[in-house]
Amino acid sequence: MNIQNIIAAGRIMPVIVIDKARDASALGNALLEGGIKTAEVTLRTPEALDAIEAMARACPDLLVGAGTVMSAENAARVRDAGGCFAVSPGATDALIEGCKAASLPLLPGASTVSEMMALGEKGFSVLKFFPATAAGGLNFLKALISPLPQFQFCPTGGITLATAPDWLALGNIPCLGGSWVAPQKLIAEQNFKAIAENARAASQIGQ
Ligand code: 3PG
Repeated sequence: MNIQNIIAAGRIMPVIVIDKARDASALGNALLEGGIKTAEVTLRTPEALDAIEAMARACPDLLVGAGTVMSAENAARVRDAGGCFAVSPGATDALIEGCKAASLPLLPGASTVSEMMALGEKGFSVLKFFPATAAGGLNFLKALISPLPQFQFCPTGGITLATAPDWLALGNIPCLGGSWVAPQKLIAEQNFKAIAENARAASQIGQ
């Protein structure tokens, strides 16, 4: 499994903030029921790693990765929990080395052309564009198609069900992420029916 396989698996990758690991299995199943193939569980809550472990175990058909991965230590913990990829808001040498050491495919974040070029020099051709809307939005990525044709982007930050189709219409955006599919509040309310419906609407985009 590498990042190319992961971004090719589905065009919408829900970004998840989960408070209780006990909800992870039902959440993963709701996403699968709605046709979602990948999930980014952010390391923003104390139970995030347990949630990754529970979701990966309960949902072998879902590619479960970790988001907000900031350090080599995070990377090792994600690998140990059974996460199959890492997403980071930015990138540091220590994080890149840590993911390599953990054999964890990394989708590193970048928001400027120089950051993108630096990651290109390190061998990355698929990047997260974050924070997508605040850092220049769709027009920024559109402007990169001609000068930086070697890169593909997974934008996240401020994208919604309504705006996702416009992003996915760009030739350098194979997939994108967003929290609207499985918002923290719906997870906390255990409203997995609504999450499955959101997932279905999201997975139908771009088909
Ligand atoms: C995040 O920062 O949580 C992700 O980029 C998702 O952002 P969103 O909540 O604006 O979809």
